[in-house]
Order: sequence, then structure tokens, then C-alpha cells
Amino acid sequence: MKFLLRAAPLTLCLQTALAEGGLILQFGDTDARIADQVALFVPEGRPASSFTGPGELKADWQGTLNLEARSRLIFSLEGTGQATLAVDGETLCAEIGTPSERKRLSSGKHDITIKYRGPEKGVARLRLFWEGRDFGREPIPASAFSHETTTALLDKNVQLQTGHRLIKTHGCQNCHADKSKPQAPSLEDIGKRLEPSWLADWIANPAEYRPGTHMPRLFSGKDAGQKAADIAHFLAPPQKNVSAEVDTKGILNGGHIFHQQGCIGCHTLDAKGREGRIGLGEVATKYRTSALAGYLLNPGKYHADTRMPDFDFTDKEAGALESFLRSLSKTKLPQLNQGDAKRGGLLLKQSGCLNCHAASDTETELPPLDNLADIKSANCKKAAYLLSDTEQQAITAALRSPRKPYQVPAEFAQQQLVALRCAACHDRNGQQSYRKQFQQEITHLKPPAPPVDDEKPGAHKRLIPPLDHLGFKLRPEWRARLLAGEIRPKTRHWLKARMPAFASRAANLSIGFSHATGLSHQPAKPPAPDPQKIKTGETLTGITGFSCGACHALGEKPAFAVFEGEGPNFRDSGTRLRSEYFHLWMASPIRQWPGTIMPAYASEGKTALTQHYEGDAMKQFEAIYHYLISLGQ
Ligand code: HEC
Ligand code: HEC
Ligand code: HEC
Ligand code: HEC
Ligand code: HEC
Repeated sequence: MKFLLRAAPLTLCLQTALAEGGLILQFGDTDARIADQVALFVPEGRPASSFTGPGELKADWQGTLNLEARSRLIFSLEGTGQATLAVDGETLCAEIGTPSERKRLSSGKHDITIKYRGPEKGVARLRLFWEGRDFGREPIPASAFSHETTTALLDKNVQLQTGHRLIKTHGCQNCHADKSKPQAPSLEDIGKRLEPSWLADWIANPAEYRPGTHMPRLFSGKDAGQKAADIAHFLAPPQKNVSAEVDTKGILNGGHIFHQQGCIGCHTLDAKGREGRIGLGEVATKYRTSALAGYLLNPGKYHADTRMPDFDFTDKEAGALESFLRSLSKTKLPQLNQGDAKRGGLLLKQSGCLNCHAASDTETELPPLDNLADIKSANCKKAAYLLSDTEQQAITAALRSPRKPYQVPAEFAQQQLVALRCAACHDRNGQQSYRKQFQQEITHLKPPAPPVDDEKPGAHKRLIPPLDHLGFKLRPEWRARLLAGEIRPKTRHWLKARMPAFASRAANLSIGFSHATGLSHQPAKPPAPDPQKIKTGETLTGITGFSCGACHALGEKPAFAVFEGEGPNFRDSGTRLRSEYFHLWMASPIRQWPGTIMPAYASEGKTALTQHYEGDAMKQFEAIYHYLISLGQ
């Protein structure tokens, strides 16, 4: 999904998306979206897209297939229901299950259309594959697709989607609905965590501290500042602050951690932020001493819905990061004006703060107004949001449309991939991660290179895995655990960077990633490994075989010759990897991950070891897969 990796304002990503990759996926004449793959998985009775509703399913993909070189390709469709594939107007696949003839296509652009009708009963699913002279059958990668035009339906629905999302993220329904559900950070213990002077400034003008914030300004006019100060006095009665000691070693170490963990992919070192990144330059003026470390140790503690992921830091690491972040601050704590805590308490209840924020023992006294359905524009008379014209138009369009979106996992995942900035650390479909793009901003924080180890010469390749195969590389249950932060020890011990946890969204994200690649999210138990194959697999990986142990550890046994880099411990590989991905990987590691050092063992379907299965690569790899599965059991 090329377009997902752009540094666009978070809320408008879907719109900027139009100029770039992916195909247009249209559902009859009711809905349309951009899809980076030709794949669909819709459980029975569920809607296929936000505006279609459940029922008869009609889905058509169209756009451009881009070929780097002249190719002779076999296409095939897999799934339930009926589907056809046409390239340059010629029908190549007339049905699901029957591969096309081998088709010669010139390099460059080709029109591609896939028409799909779901089955009358049961799961609707579809996937599109191709196979070339020099590569085996694989799902067509997203990087091959683009679209040049847009349709009126697509434009309209992208706007509606955006509008509904803005309404949600900005909490309009918290004041304009019968049932409101606070989703902003809780105000519990706020006085122990945040500086009162920051609170006053924030309440008076949230966008000044964080451009793009979802919190509105509620007070305007001459006494706005005073009201904000009153609330600050109520929430955080001023007390003597123990100022943090300057810890030079902490500052240095914290800088290194900031560098290693890719914080720069989502944050800037200055206060304002840019490219959708949030500035941390003055975060020291917000948090009381130690509270910043406390936040980093558990970012979701007071805000389950936060987009800041959990890095599972130790106390020491969080302390070092706090020292480092404090060292960025150029301003002294601002002066806090006198204020009246009692009046502040009343204002807090009456102004609508508690429509969005939970606080113990206190309920809002601003009753829900009219229903969301009754408001017809983005122009709130009470809550002042800084919304662009396009955003206001999107909100207005969504408010006026009678169609309300369904929750569709594949769409949720596609949208969250952007909102959560997975691209901060991961390359995807040929696009560089943000941490690489913004690396030059933090070269001064780079830790010194470790001394060269004579035992292990050569440049040690330490690569964060790309996300091209999100959805079909890992088994769904492993992926869900990974996103929830439950995989320990980490898969790649040689990486300083960690995969942080997105706990509150892990389960839904994981379902969505499966569905978007046309797969069920039901955990499929690995097949019971065959004892004969296990034995052959073990021999094939051993030193009389391919010596895979040179780069791959086996349980407690470390890899024995990691000259250029290491691969994951074999103990977990069978539990982690879907069989389909395993075979694609073994057939050609470099095709799946350009830049990997893992050698290819097969050439034209054969390996160098002819004594097993007469050198049949596919059979040998299957034996290895059985062996890997047996290791995990
Ligand atoms: C429409 C919902 C909404 C209203 C109304 C609202 N806030 Fe907020 N507030 C938020 C959101 C959302 C955030 C998180 C910042 C962000 O995501 O941009 C936030 C952040 C905060 C924070 C920082 C919390 C933290 O732990 O970082 C404080 C303090 C706060 N609001 C106080 C108030 C007060 C006081 C009022 C009333 C004057 C108020 N808010 C009104 C939505 C709201
Ligand atoms: C994938 C994106 C992402 C990464 C990576 C990330 N953050 Fe964040 N961080 C966020 C977002 C988004 C917020 C705003 C919180 C929210 O919206 O709930 C945030 C908030 C914060 C805050 C609180 C800011 C405030 O004004 O209260 C701090 C401090 C912070 N991050 C530090 C870090 C550090 C240090 C790292 C690296 C170890 C890091 N973040 C990595 C996305 C990220
Ligand atoms: C803190 C509570 C609160 C939040 C959050 C809020 N509103 Fe309002 N809104 C009000 C109140 C109170 C009024 C009525 C003010 C008045 O009539 O003086 C109002 C009035 C309006 C009106 C004018 C209604 C009319 O009949 O003329 C519109 C339009 C509106 N809001 C839209 C929005 C939108 C869109 C959002 C989200 C982006 C939003 N509001 C968020 C409290 C809120
Ligand atoms: C702060 C950097 C960072 C962010 C942000 C991040 N990841 Fe990761 N991710 C990593 C690192 C580092 C690894 C490798 C960890 C390991 O294997 O030890 C990883 C591993 C993974 C893997 C396993 C891949 C494999 O082949 O083993 C998946 C899947 C994944 N991430 C998905 C995501 C998704 C989805 C998001 C966004 C919701 C995301 N990541 C955000 C750093 C990040
Ligand atoms: C020169 C070193 C090297 C050798 C030799 C090697 N590999 Fe790898 N292997 C790698 C690297 C590097 C990766 C990918 C690293 C990553 O995912 O971070 C990898 C990944 C894998 C994976 C995916 C593992 C996972 O859990 O994600 C499998 C399976 C695998 N190799 C199997 C084998 C087999 C079987 C052999 C022997 C036939 C072998 N490798 C030989 C370096 C090697």
C-alpha cells in the first residue's frame, strides 16, 4: 500500500491516497475504496465494506498492472463465488480455480479488471495469484498495482469515510448524542502527573501546544485565560515541585534509546512537530518530575485508546528517556496565574470537559444536546476545533448523509496502519520507513559502534522486517500476540529496535490484516508433522545437509557462523510461519525480502542435494517445514 507510507496529515490519508498505488475496489454502485491487493475475506452475514451492508456481494477491482520487464505470466483466482480476470480487455481467467494460459505481456502499464460475485451462502473470499518464468505462484504484490483515474463514487465515499472518522476522533458525539462514551485520556491523578502551568495553557489553547490535536478549545473571550487557570488550580493544586537533577549519563543513554527505537518516525525533537509527527521538544513542561518516565512505562494507563505504543521499557530505560527529553526543553516552566479552584471545579463540570474525559466522582453537567443526526455542519457553537476546509466539508458531508458506516475489519486495519504509523519503523511495498527517512535529524544521538568482533567479521546486517506480507506471513494467533506485546523473548535478539505493543487494538488489527489478504483469521492448527519427513527435514538442515544452523539458532544451540547476519531461531519458525509463506521464502528469499542475506537453495525446482527426493526442492522444503513444526511442539 504505497500511499499509506506518505507523511500526510493523519486524518486525510485516505484522500491523498488517490494519487498513488492500489486498485479501485468498487462494490456495485454503493461503495468504493482503494485496495492494495486483489483479496477479500467476508464472513457469512457480514458486510464487505462500510457502506454496503451484508447481503449480495458484488466487487470489482480496476486499475493498472505495472510490469518492470516483459513477462510470460500465468494468472489464477482462488476463492468462493464467481470471478473473472481481464488484462487489457482480454479475459484471461473465466472462473475461479482454472489458471490462465501463459500470457506474454510487455513491460509497462496494463489495464486490469477483476469482477467478483460472492456465493449465495457461506464465506466470500478471493485471492489473485501470478506465476512467472523465474518465480513460483504467489499473490500479486501490491507494488504492481496503481490507478490513474478516480471515480465520483470513490471521491464521495472517501469523503464520507473521512468525515465519520473526524467526527469520532473529535468526540462530537460526546456532546451531541444520547449516549456518550469518554475516549479522551482520563483525568484521574492528573494533578500528580501534569504541571498546573501547562494545564492552564493547554486548556486555554490546546492547538498551541499540539497542532492537530483532537481536543477543542472551549473558552474564548477576555476571561478565557482565567477560566483555564481556575480549572488548572482545581485539577492540580500548585505544590512545590522537586526539580529533576540533571543526569548527564541518563541524557546520553536516553538519546541512544531514542535513536535505536525509531521514536523519530513518530516524533520530532522540536516542540511543534511536522509531517504528522508529534513534537516532544517541550514535553518537559507538561509532566512533573518522574511522571514522564511513568508515562513511557505504560502509555495506555490513563488512555487505553492511545496511539503511543508500549515499548516495554525497564525503569532504567524510561528514566534515561525522561532525562533526555527534559534536556530538549528550552523554556522554563511558564508562570501560573492565580486561580480559584472552586470555580474551576464548577467550570470543569459545566463546560463539557467531562463529556470527553473520565474523572472519578465527577459527572458532567452538560447534558447531551440534540442528536448527532440533528447537526448539519461542522461549525460548532461551543467547541472550537481547528479544522481545514476539506475536513469541515468531510464532516458536513458525513453529517448530512443518511448512510452510516459498518465496522469492517479489513478497512479498520488499512486505516489503522496509517493512523498508528506502522511505517515509522517498517518498510513496506518498496517504501522506506519513516525512521530511515528522518534519520538525519538524529545522527548526533547515534550510539558509538560496538568494537569489531574478530570471531564474527563482516558487516552484520540488522534489518527490521518489511511489512509487505502483513496478513499472510505469520499465523494469525502469533500475529495477534505480537501486536499485543506478548511475544517474549523477541524473535530477533540481534536487533536493538523492538516491536512495541498496540494492545488495545491488537485483536481487531490482526483480524483485519488477515481479511485484507483474503484469509480467515481462525487459527489453523499446523498439520501433524510426519515422522519420516521430520527426520529428512532434520538431516537436510544439518551439517550433512544445507547447514542452516550456520545462521539459525536451534533452541539453546546458537547459530555457529553468523558472518553477515542471523536468521530467527528455528524453534519458533514452524509456530510463526504459515506454510504458504514458508514455501515462497524458501523458493526465493530475495524475492520476498530484497536485501536479505539468506541464500536461495533452489534453482528451477531443484536443490544441490540430490540424495533426498531426487533433489526435488518443493519436497525437501516440505520436509524441512515438518521438522520446523515438530520443533515448536
Ligand atoms: C471533544 C472532547 C474533549 C473535550 C470537550 C475536552 N477534551 Fe481534553 N482532551 C481531549 C483529547 C482527545 C485529548 C488528548 C489530546 C489529543 O489527542 O490531541 C485531551 C487532552 C487533555 C488533557 C491532557 C491529558 C493528558 O494526560 O495528556 C487535559 C489535562 C485535558 N484534555 C483537559 C480538558 C479540560 C479541562 C477540558 C474542559 C475545559 C477538556 N479537556 C475538554 C478531548 C477533549
Ligand atoms: C508509531 C508511532 C510512535 C512511536 C514509534 C513513538 N511514539 Fe510516542 N507518541 C505517539 C503518539 C501518536 C503520541 C500521542 C499520544 C496519543 O495520541 O495518544 C505519543 C506520545 C508520546 C509522549 C507524550 C507526549 C505528550 O505531549 O504528552 C511521549 C513522551 C512520547 N510519545 C515519547 C516517545 C518515545 C521516547 C518514543 C521512542 C521510544 C516514542 N514516543 C515512539 C506515537 C509514537
Ligand atoms: C463539549 C461539548 C461539545 C462538543 C465536543 C461538540 N459540540 Fe457542537 N455544540 C455544543 C453545544 C453546547 C452547542 C450549542 C451551543 C449554543 O447553541 O450556544 C453546540 C452546537 C453545535 C452546532 C450548532 C447547532 C445548531 O443547531 O446550530 C453545530 C453545527 C455543532 N455543535 C457541531 C459540532 C461538531 C461537528 C462537533 C465535533 C467536531 C461538535 N459540535 C462538538 C457542544 C459541543
Ligand atoms: C517503533 C518501531 C516499530 C513500530 C512503530 C512498529 N513496528 Fe512492527 N516491528 C518492529 C521491530 C523492530 C520488529 C522486529 C522485532 C523482532 O522480531 O524481534 C517488528 C516486527 C513486526 C512484525 C513481525 C514480522 C516478522 O516477519 O517477524 C509484524 C507483523 C509487525 N512488526 C507489524 C507491525 C504493525 C502492524 C505495526 C503498526 C501497528 C508495527 N509493526 C509498528 C518495530 C516496529
Ligand atoms: C547465511 C545465513 C543463512 C543461512 C545459511 C540460512 N538462513 Fe534462513 N534466514 C537467514 C536470514 C538473515 C533470515 C531472515 C532474517 C529475519 O527474518 O530477520 C532467514 C529466515 C529464514 C526463515 C524465516 C524464519 C522466520 O521465523 O521468520 C526460514 C524458515 C529460514 N530462514 C530457513 C532456512 C533454512 C531451512 C536454511 C537452510 C536450508 C536457512 N534458512 C539457511 C539467514 C540464513
